[in-house]
Amino acid sequence: MYTITLLPGDGIGPEVVAGAVQVLQAVQERTGAQFVTREAPFGGCAYDKTGTPLPEETLKLCLAGDAVLLGAVGGPKWDSLPVHQRPEVGALLPLRKHLGVFANLRPSVIFPALADASTLKREVVDGLDLMVVRELTGGIYFGSKHRETLPDGGVKVVETLEYTTGEIERVARVAFDLARKRSGKLTSVDKANVLESSRLWREVVSGVAGEYPDVELSHMLVDNCAMQLVRYPKQFDVLLTENMFGDILSDQASQLTGSIGMLPSAGLGSKVGLYEPIHGSAPDIAGQNLANPIATILSVAMMLRYSFDLPEAAELVEKAVAGVLDEGYRTADIMQPGMRQVGTVEMAKQIGVRLKLS
Ligand code: NAD
Ligand code: IPM
Ligand code: MN
Repeated sequence: MYTITLLPGDGIGPEVVAGAVQVLQAVQERTGAQFVTREAPFGGCAYDKTGTPLPEETLKLCLAGDAVLLGAVGGPKWDSLPVHQRPEVGALLPLRKHLGVFANLRPSVIFPALADASTLKREVVDGLDLMVVRELTGGIYFGSKHRETLPDGGVKVVETLEYTTGEIERVARVAFDLARKRSGKLTSVDKANVLESSRLWREVVSGVAGEYPDVELSHMLVDNCAMQLVRYPKQFDVLLTENMFGDILSDQASQLTGSIGMLPSAGLGSKVGLYEPIHGSAPDIAGQNLANPIATILSVAMMLRYSFDLPEAAELVEKAVAGVLDEGYRTADIMQPGMRQVGTVEMAKQIGVRLKLS
């Protein structure tokens, strides 16, 4: 029996998590694996209810379960709160830190049926399968912040970027291990021509490479990487990045697959894994049954694989997604001429039905 804490959050979060739960139920029926879910307030909705975006009870529940499935948090309603009450800084970042999920796997895989759904040409993206390994609990997101008013009335802000060798080593090992299981190619991304933290990053990653003689390591500056991702993304297999570079590059990589609504993630590093789509709360489409639930459904597949060691069940989910896309079902974000447009609810339902029949 596996215990999953559900944090639907804000905006489209509850819609996509409901879709993923439906698929989880289908996995349970199909495989006999037992999942117990319990839901907790988190993010802006938790702030509204309890005055804090990360209630103590929610954190306790997360730490006591086997894995966490998160929708998304944030939105204009909470944007002007003091920084530590904001859903992003007051809930999501501390949750990642408390869980100790320092490695965030963000796979960018194109489903064959969507090779023409990307804004890039078919030949650029067809067959794409790359993995961004993003450091998730360090860097500028977690450094100290300081703001002061200057005598001339201007404002000065200081924001610090810290990394230790230990933090770099552990995430590098995750990336090398993955590269070893995949094509044996790892590209480490940094800005070593400017940043001291990136020079340390490069040094440490090069050191870890000594333990992996079978993996071919290369280094690439982040600005070039952003360009290469749209020029010739299939040159990459595993990309290793610090926290903020990985945030930006993974949104960019998501579009290669057709939509940000397709990209799941797995936060790994300690006992409890954190699974979340890479997209946000999408306030522009929230509450309209328009959101693509596939990123969250594929995050469930990652949970089955990485937290529960149920690779066959993960494959069932991934195959059901592929099958439903092959049948022509599309949410608005991946809609193509001649295909059948459905909403969040119907897309999740079709994936569940297909999974049970597989
Ligand atoms: P976003 O990812 O929410 O949306 C960007 C664009 O992509 C929007 O046009 C949106 O409609 C579309 N989109 C996103 N997910 C989609 C889906 N599943 N299906 C179809 N279309 C989808 O990014 P944003 O607009 O920059 O941020 C909105 C809010 O979300 C902000 O408050 C931000 O801080 C927060 N956010 C939260 C998370 C998280 O909780 N993990 C991640 C990113 C952003
Ligand atoms: C993501 C999001 C978060 C991040 C924000 C909301 C803190 O953009 O998960 O990609 O930058 O990590
Ligand atoms: Mn992001």
